[in-house]
Amino acid sequence: MTIGGGFRPASRRSGLLGVHSIGEFVLSVPDVSDAEKFYGAFGFDTRAANNQLALHTAADGYRWGRVIGGGRKAMHHVSFHCFEEDLARFKTHLEAHGVKVLDPPPGFDSNGLWFYDHDGMLLEIKVGVKTSPNEKAPMEAPAPATPIRTAPNRGAVRRTQPRRLSHIVRFTPDVDRAVAFYSRVLGLRLSDRSADAVAFMHGVHGSDHHLMAFGKSDAPGLHHLSWDVPSIDSVGLGAMQMADKGFSRGWGLGRHVLGSNYFHYVRDPWGSYCEYSCDMDIIPAAIDWQGLDHAPEDSFYLWGPNVPEDFGVNHEAAGA
Ligand SMILES: [Fe+2]
Repeated sequence: MTIGGGFRPASRRSGLLGVHSIGEFVLSVPDVSDAEKFYGAFGFDTRAANNQLALHTAADGYRWGRVIGGGRKAMHHVSFHCFEEDLARFKTHLEAHGVKVLDPPPGFDSNGLWFYDHDGMLLEIKVGVKTSPNEKAPMEAPAPATPIRTAPNRGAVRRTQPRRLSHIVRFTPDVDRAVAFYSRVLGLRLSDRSADAVAFMHGVHGSDHHLMAFGKSDAPGLHHLSWDVPSIDSVGLGAMQMADKGFSRGWGLGRHVLGSNYFHYVRDPWGSYCEYSCDMDIIPAAIDWQGLDHAPEDSFYLWGPNVPEDFGVNHEAAGA
């Protein structure tokens, strides 16, 4: 399967044990119809059945996430993908690090390895397709109106649709513990950080600058899911597409320093965000990346509008 636009064959760094991708996330929310409105407007092919909503990318049909209705808003689990030859090694590796391997949760039969992370969030490592890139996919700006008029007419643009999941950013009470756990147990590597406030991690077999990132908070929680789109126009048009459907709260257009991506964040119905992201840096498998500790002002953004006051609020924390 080709996922997200042109980054096969799967790259791997020989000799290192590490997950290579995020395969899927499962999110619990009170009312799945809120999710259907939000993610449908965001540009997913949404498929509802049995009080669940599946989120597929339209171009390749890949299922990136499922949303389950009827619970409080929280991440139910995240499934990471590994290479087939690494699954048995991971089982030994988890046991060697004192990580208890669990039975699959009810309703999620799988032959993967299930365990809790440092904050008690359920994770799975299973064999699966490499969804993370080893090089940038081409930018795909809308076709110009004429060779001179490089902006298209409004009627000529297509709606923004994510190409693939880029990364998940979690709140955690202890960023150092998060980095230690995801390095030691899952084999991710530090990309960059800013003291104990935020840390970004990539996959050693080639991935975006961050596959997972962790921001400090009083409690665990989801800050945002980030979705790769093909152009800066797609970021801006996506923001407008969401505002047209009533989802106008968020932050953007801007550009990050760490990861270099252009962004627009749209606030979801539960107070976390979905990010339209474009042109993020890739850390290829062959690179020995040295993560650095950056000044706080570089950990956030290069340019953009003022940050909304509640952008960093963890709505999953008690009293938020
Ligand atoms: Fe992001």
